[in-house]
Amino acid sequence: MRHLMNPLDFTVEELDALFDLADDIAANPAKYAHACEGRKLATCFYEPSTRTRLSFEAAMLNLGGQVLGFSDAGSSSASKGESVSDTIRIISCYADICAMRHPKEGAPMVAASRSGIPVINAGDGGHQHPTQTLTDLLTIRALKGRLGNFTIGLCGDLKFGRTVHSLINALIRYPGIRFLFISPTELKVPDYIIDMLSEKEIEYEEVIRLEDCIGQLDLLYMTRVQRERFFNEEDYVRLKDFYILNKEKMALAKDDMLVLHPLPRVNEISVEVDDDSRAVYFKQAQYGVYVRMALILTLLEITVS
Ligand code: NCD
Repeated sequence: MRHLMNPLDFTVEELDALFDLADDIAANPAKYAHACEGRKLATCFYEPSTRTRLSFEAAMLNLGGQVLGFSDAGSSSASKGESVSDTIRIISCYADICAMRHPKEGAPMVAASRSGIPVINAGDGGHQHPTQTLTDLLTIRALKGRLGNFTIGLCGDLKFGRTVHSLINALIRYPGIRFLFISPTELKVPDYIIDMLSEKEIEYEEVIRLEDCIGQLDLLYMTRVQRERFFNEEDYVRLKDFYILNKEKMALAKDDMLVLHPLPRVNEISVEVDDDSRAVYFKQAQYGVYVRMALILTLLEITVS
């Protein structure tokens, strides 16, 4: 039985197969409409989410399956003190596959070790968010036509943003990637990631001002400042509007640079950018459903011919 904890759990070849399947799903949705009939997905969300949870639910419903679950820790037995290990044993009796989000790093991994069904990490604290990364990679592959040979700027909260950590982790396996990390000093990429990049001799640069480097980018990955992971409100207030991508900054960018964002957006992208054809963050959410459909089929070992 396979779980998904980290984007690296799949080889590059397995990811290609997953993305090919997602492309086929996007092109032929009717072919997959009954693929998961009689199967259930449990969404166990110990931390608030709309997009990821609903994206998983939409994915399972599109496959003809059913969904059950909870959307915050307060409405689960965790509020009575039940451990994640016990919860997953119970969920294994009720569902065929589980997507779990948890504020504690590693909790989905603990669950997977006790689970009778495949577990998907739907975000664990500031650590990893592999299905967002699959979404990002599928979006890049579909709209740029390749994974590799580009300069990507990651901008915003690079310290706490798990989507950023997961994406860097996944991208280093492709050739010719150059990273520009654009963040205030307080929200820099964690040292363990910088050490890993240096060790693998992957090109990166740390920059403070977006306008200084936006012209070099093929991809710009914007992120929100993660309020819920700050220890004090004052620091959050000071840093929250550090970056605002607007029309003036977009005018400095290449004509074919794409802007991605895992969403939710707060102030970091001005709404005036939404109409720019290079802004693809809403399309990205649609790709997220296709890739989660492909992932559910793959982990349940269901093939559709
Ligand atoms: C992200 C997350 O939860 O880490 N959202 C998402 O899943 N699309 C990004 C964020 O919350 O900023």
